[in-house]
Amino acid sequence: MSEIVRFGVSLDNALLGRYDNLIRRKNYRNRSEAIRELIRHSLSNKNYEGDGEVAGAIIYIYDKRQRDLVNRIIDVQHDYRDIMQLSQHMHLNNNDCIEIVAVKGLFSKVCKFSDSLKALKGVRHGSLSASRTGKIK
Ligand code: NI
Repeated sequence: MSEIVRFGVSLDNALLGRYDNLIRRKNYRNRSEAIRELIRHSLSNKNYEGDGEVAGAIIYIYDKRQRDLVNRIIDVQHDYRDIMQLSQHMHLNNNDCIEIVAVKGLFSKVCKFSDSLKALKGVRHGSLSASRTGKIK
């Protein structure tokens, strides 16, 4: 086993409170255990030997009042048109929409596509869930 390292994390109190509630609900023994699990999860999502094809879904919520956001989302989707995409759109309330985009393509490109959508101002709760199809680049 490698050496244990301690490090400090800065975050706002309300966010930490919400995370502590989640830790209790999931029965983690302490914050360290929960954060280790979070880190392992994010590494396993990206830990690929080389690139390969994945299939999955990108889910995000956005506020359609954000200036020009709908057009910027469409621009990003066109930028990544070499990824197979199938979008579903649902109107959540007067302002917010949720989109679920099924995707199939190279993992590296799918990640860039997902990151580009999530980086748009007004897009929130973006997530990517993808699994390998078994096809190697
Ligand atoms: Ni809508």
